[in-house]
Amino acid sequence: MTDQTALEEVSRKLAGTGIDVLINNAGILRNETFDRLDFDQIREQFEVNALGALRVTSLLSRCLRKGSKIILITSRMGSIGDNGSGGYYGYRMTKAALNMAGVNLAHDFRGKGVSVAILHPGLVATGMTGHHGISTSESAAGLISRIDELRLEDSGGFWHANGERLPW
Ligand SMILES: NC(=O)c1ccc[n+]([C@@H]2O[C@H](COP(=O)([O-])OP(=O)(O)OC[C@H]3O[C@@H](n4cnc5c(N)ncnc54)[C@H](OP(=O)(O)O)[C@@H]3O)[C@@H](O)[C@H]2O)c1
Repeated sequence: MTDQTALEEVSRKLAGTGIDVLINNAGILRNETFDRLDFDQIREQFEVNALGALRVTSLLSRCLRKGSKIILITSRMGSIGDNGSGGYYGYRMTKAALNMAGVNLAHDFRGKGVSVAILHPGLVATGMTGHHGISTSESAAGLISRIDELRLEDSGGFWHANGERLPW
């Protein structure tokens, strides 16, 4: 996600191929509190969570066709309206930035017939959460339903995998 040269190589290898669904899933979570801010750590999260997804989408955009879908796996922790507990400065700020990129992408790609969904997978039992939460298969099933339902008219929306609309 952060290696421009490697991604350019991927882009070259995929030239002429169509991508139906481009899922930007990779992300990292670090933990900062106001008393323990680590700006390098926050910058690292920007590189992967926000810039990485935009970089991948940019380099693979020539593979997107009418009807293709761009999916950004974000987090409700990037929701300003839903932020009831604070903390996690880097993760929250980078996911909010990713959400903004998603709305911009929806504007830029609407005319090409490509739609965008900004999706929160739920609290999922993965390495990121210390394996607390719903199963990856349950989360993935919800995400796949949201991707299947996505229409150009709804492009740029922010949803929970369970179908709930999330506040910005
Ligand atoms: N789990 C949850 O409850 C939860 C909740 C909300 C949102 N999310 C979001 O869901 C997505 C997936 O998270 P997860 O729970 O599966 O986390 P995870 O278990 O920590 O897995 C993260 C994945 O991202 C990849 N990755 C990290 N940095 C990368 C980079 N620079 N380039 C390429 N790949 C990179 C990792 O690859 P390596 O293993 O090779 O490092 C790994 O496959 C993330 O965007 C996360 O923010 C998760």
